[in-house]
Amino acid sequence: MEDLDEILAIENSSFSKPWPRDVFMRELQIPVSRNLVATLRKDLHNEIAGYVTYWVVAGELQVHKICVREDLRKSGVASSLMAEMIRLSCREGVGICSLEVGRSNEGAQRLYEKFGFEVTDIRPQYYAESGDDAMILCVELKKCLQFIRKA
Ligand SMILES: CC(C)(COP(=O)(O)OP(=O)(O)OC[C@H]1O[C@@H](n2cnc3c(N)ncnc32)[C@H](O)[C@@H]1OP(=O)(O)O)[C@@H](O)C(=O)NCCC(=O)NCCS
Repeated sequence: MEDLDEILAIENSSFSKPWPRDVFMRELQIPVSRNLVATLRKDLHNEIAGYVTYWVVAGELQVHKICVREDLRKSGVASSLMAEMIRLSCREGVGICSLEVGRSNEGAQRLYEKFGFEVTDIRPQYYAESGDDAMILCVELKKCLQFIRKA
């Protein structure tokens, strides 16, 4: 909760339709929701570098949002968040992970490819505002762990 102001600043500068505060607050109360932040240093409540929001439902991990502060991108922050999310989910007994990404979002696609995700479905013009297609990506978490160990 105490990280929300910084998270909202990153969210507002990163998305054309950012999640408002009440959506993040709701995530903190939903039992299946998990929310991780990456900080610049290890101290608690330090500057926020990025965050990930995901759900664990019926043995499946669903990534809903991952975002990194613009000036800190391409330095491994999202990869660290993904790796931690995958490790924690494996400990919870989760078997697979799924997520959705816009076809034009090449940066996010590179990130997911790095963890072994593969395209399982395409939903044409899924995003009404941009007309972009949605790509549905999946991976078995066991496979993800192999990619993390190799990195
Ligand atoms: C997508 C996003 C989360 C990636 O975060 P990041 O911290 O820059 O990612 P990483 O530094 O861990 O990079 C992971 C890999 O993707 C590659 N990558 C990241 N952004 C890239 C870009 N814009 N173009 C090409 N490759 C990119 C990196 O080079 C890296 O590959 P490597 O390890 O082989 O070098 C970040 O760009 C972001 O916050 N974007 C806006 C929000 C968003 O689109 N979120 C995803 C949908 S919810």
